[in-house]
This record gives sequence, structure tokens and C-alpha cells, in this order.
Amino acid sequence: MKKKEQSISYLEYQGINELPDMERKLVEEAVSAAGGAYAPYSGFKVGAAIMLDDGTITRGANVENAAFPSGSCAEKTVLSYTVANYHEKKTVAIAIAALSGGELTADPVPPCGNCRQMLIEEEQRLRQPVKVILAGKSAIIVLEDCQSLMPLSFTRSNLGKRV
Ligand code: THU
Repeated sequence: MKKKEQSISYLEYQGINELPDMERKLVEEAVSAAGGAYAPYSGFKVGAAIMLDDGTITRGANVENAAFPSGSCAEKTVLSYTVANYHEKKTVAIAIAALSGGELTADPVPPCGNCRQMLIEEEQRLRQPVKVILAGKSAIIVLEDCQSLMPLSFTRSNLGKRV
């Protein structure tokens, strides 16, 4: 028997003004995208913005449904839209932000497990890391890849497909 460990590293910024230009722009887009959320049940509006390798930015928000599981998270919305419409381009980064009571949340909002699974698939599809920016008023977390969000994840290699 062996004990194994996996650790992750990330940057934590104290505010949006500390961020490099590209990250700051993407966070602003995610905040703005959150305004387009349809969240009548939770009142929790989430926005996500993706930067592609040619500088294109795509945006998405959560879309809820009276049958709760039918809703879509912001990350899933923007990833599905981006893959479907820009599959020849490459995702380089995604920023996520949420509004509660019309205000950017104090803490960064971590993606749910389902969205982490989707983010990892995108990284494997592209064969390159996708930066993740989780924005809150009091802290902004930047991870260099999606894989570190979910260790020991189920991926295409578990289905016998080449990574
Ligand atoms: N939500 C997202 O859009 N992204 C996340 O990563 C976490 C949760 C949405 C789903 C639901 O519409 C609302 O936030 C409350 O869970």
C-alpha cells in the first residue's frame, strides 16, 4: 500500500484591479453576462465568459427551469455555445462571476461538479490547458488549468479513448 497525494496551486488576487489586462477584461465580461441570467428560483445569477485564441469572447449565464434539474449553469451554457459555434478555435480561459441581490458576490463562486467535468472535457478536446478565473469582490482565484479542479476525474481515457 502506498499513500499518494495530489495538491493544487493557484493565484489569489485581492481585487479586480490587481489582475493582468486579459483576466480583468474577462471578469468584466462574466459580471456583465450574469445580468442575462434567468434565475427566478434561486435569485443567484451566474455569468461566465470564455476567451478564444483569436481574442473572441463568448458569454453565457445560468438558465433555470421549473423542473429544477433541467436548468443549465452559466459555465455549461457558455461551453456548449462556444464548442457548437467556434469549434475550430481554442478556448484559452474562462471567467466565472455571480451576482447576489444585484451585487458581485464577496467570495468567488466555484464551479459545480458537473461543470468541472465539462471544463475538463474541453481541456482534453483541445489538448491544452484552459485557465480558470473565479471572481469575487474580496478575492479572485486564478488556476492555470481545469484538471486541477477535479483530481481523479472520469475522462475519455476511462472509455478506452486516446487523450
Ligand atoms: N450555478 C451556476 O450557474 N454555476 C455554478 O457553478 C454554480 C451554480 C447556478 C445554478 C443555479 O441556477 C444557481 O446557480 C443556484 O445554484
